[in-house]
Amino acid sequence: MTSPARNPFHPTFGRSPAVFAGRDAELSAFELALAEGPGNPWRTALISGARGIGKTVLLNEFEAIAKAQGWIVLRAHVGPEMITELTDITIPRVVRDLDFAPSATQRHITGVTLPGLGGVRTEVTTTPEPGRNLLTSLQDLWSLCAPHGVGLLITADEIQSAEPNHLRELGHAIQELNRDDADIAFVAAGLPTGVEDLLQMDSTTFLRRAERVQLAPLSDETVAQLFRDTAALSTFPMDSGAIAAAVELGRGYPYLIQTIGSITWAKTKLAGTEVMTADRVAEASPEAIRRIGTQVHAPALRTATPAQMDFLWAMAQRGTPAATADIAGALGKKPSSISQLRHDLLYAELITAPAHGKVDFYLPYMGEYLLTLQR
Ligand SMILES: Nc1ncnc2c1ncn2[C@@H]1O[C@H](COP(=O)(O)OP(=O)(O)OP(=O)(O)O)[C@@H](O)[C@H]1O
Ligand SMILES: [Mg+2]
Repeated sequence: MTSPARNPFHPTFGRSPAVFAGRDAELSAFELALAEGPGNPWRTALISGARGIGKTVLLNEFEAIAKAQGWIVLRAHVGPEMITELTDITIPRVVRDLDFAPSATQRHITGVTLPGLGGVRTEVTTTPEPGRNLLTSLQDLWSLCAPHGVGLLITADEIQSAEPNHLRELGHAIQELNRDDADIAFVAAGLPTGVEDLLQMDSTTFLRRAERVQLAPLSDETVAQLFRDTAALSTFPMDSGAIAAAVELGRGYPYLIQTIGSITWAKTKLAGTEVMTADRVAEASPEAIRRIGTQVHAPALRTATPAQMDFLWAMAQRGTPAATADIAGALGKKPSSISQLRHDLLYAELITAPAHGKVDFYLPYMGEYLLTLQR
């Protein structure tokens, strides 16, 4: 709970917002899946969407739903140690903290002392453990949880960076547990192109059947409510003019929305006033747009080729939506010769095709950002 004297907006990746807005369909579908039982397709879900659209915080919400239903949440951290961290640290910790776990050590009679010198001697020894892998660790955990009706949710963020052999092992374990009719769910999140590439691999067959959740921008109505409710948690309410201006500027894009709210709140505080107004939103606008450029657009453009950058640059200069034929003209090429370039940019989710023969930027303010770059 934040203090009303502090900024209620959180423009930080991965940090859950003070007010979580929208995504109602996803939340209720997931809630139903956990309550329903194995077989509901949402028991394996794959969330994808642009940077800052809200993948990580939706995962956080799913975890909270699972905990509220008494489930155990196991976070898989994508990286070189993903599997060993699960088997050696995460799962043993969960077992240790279970209310219904058996004690890890057992008392054994280890010998008898000579008559007259004492009684039976006992000491604590640990039972030698057979080798463990992810599957057996999860099976052991499930065998403890099953009698208590406690399910297991595994989550994995930034799944596009996971190692194929890790995904194979994870997929194998989840499939085996499904065969045993275990209450297990798996939700992963990642960037769209990375997720598509991942699905092409042999190791990810289990993910191909996952429920696909493609996160879209939030509706204007949801965003207005988000601004109103978040501001109401602090000492500065937002008036209706400010809400209308912020909704327009935010374009339904959660990272930008939190950034606009956060800067507007700070400007209001610095001005010594007590209500967030449209003027303050207007003052916040250049800095909010600059930040989405450095935090979202710059990383997204890091892998773009020089030819792709020329294409995007031509779009920025002409204004969007732009006619593909005009872009070709600006590049001194025939429209047919830029079709591969256009295709690659669509695939990378840097551009969209809003109508036949037209292109636009996928994310808001990318054109503005490109125009600020030195060429
Ligand atoms: N539904 C929502 N309601 C309110 N704020 C949200 C919502 N979704 C995301 N946000 C906010 O937007 C910002 C970005 O969210 P998040 O970090 O989940 O994005 P992401 O898609 O995981 O981005 P990345 O791909 O860079 O990891 C955070 O400040 C978060 O609090
Ligand atoms: Mg994230």
